[in-house]
Amino acid sequence: MYDNIGNWIVVTFVDNWYMKIIDYSKKEMSKGVIELFSSIYPNWTMEELNRIDYDENHQLHVTTKVAIINDQIVGQANIFRLLNNPTIANLGYHVHPDYRRRGIGIKLSTKAMKIAKKNGIKTIIVQTEADNLGAIVLARKLGFEIPPKSFVEKIKSGLKLHRLKNSICLYKRI
Ligand SMILES: CC(C)(COP(=O)(O)OP(=O)(O)OC[C@H]1O[C@@H](n2cnc3c(N)ncnc32)[C@H](O)[C@@H]1OP(=O)(O)O)[C@@H](O)C(=O)NCCC(=O)NCCS
Repeated sequence: MYDNIGNWIVVTFVDNWYMKIIDYSKKEMSKGVIELFSSIYPNWTMEELNRIDYDENHQLHVTTKVAIINDQIVGQANIFRLLNNPTIANLGYHVHPDYRRRGIGIKLSTKAMKIAKKNGIKTIIVQTEADNLGAIVLARKLGFEIPPKSFVEKIKSGLKLHRLKNSICLYKRI
């Protein structure tokens, strides 16, 4: 289904899977991305799933990369500019539960951040729940740190932290 889309980045795993990382396209990948999100958040309603499967032409969108193995979308990383500061952007990453701890999250995020840098982004933030160990350790591995309070104050109105129960924000200059 996705064979003729985009360029291949081939990664060989221990069990000989090949993975490609390509740009997201809602037209061709909406179904696959909704399946990915429902594997991660099985309790989400269709309305919630449709909401996260945003339109890549959104004015704040910088880049979205998806990882494909055996014609299945197994991961996604996206970057959106903050409303109140166009040089700061939010990174999100999601990997199918069956494909975790194989470096897919790191690879997707690294690729997405390179594109963000080319698009004039100077700082990337990650917002997640404070008990989301996987998301936090991954960000730390990528060099993200706890920002100074002054930074959070400056960008507060553009953050979605208030929507998370017990949230944390990490940042990285790129
Ligand atoms: C967070 C998430 C994207 C990680 O994806 P992944 O492909 O498993 O990540 P990687 O394999 O690239 O992990 C890189 C490193 O991060 C750390 N890490 C990842 N998941 C971890 C976990 N559950 N516990 C502890 N450390 C973890 C490890 O140091 C790992 O390296 P290692 O496997 O060599 O030890 C995945 O767990 C996920 O989709 N979670 C649900 C969605 C989510 O919460 N997203 C964050 C919102 S911003």
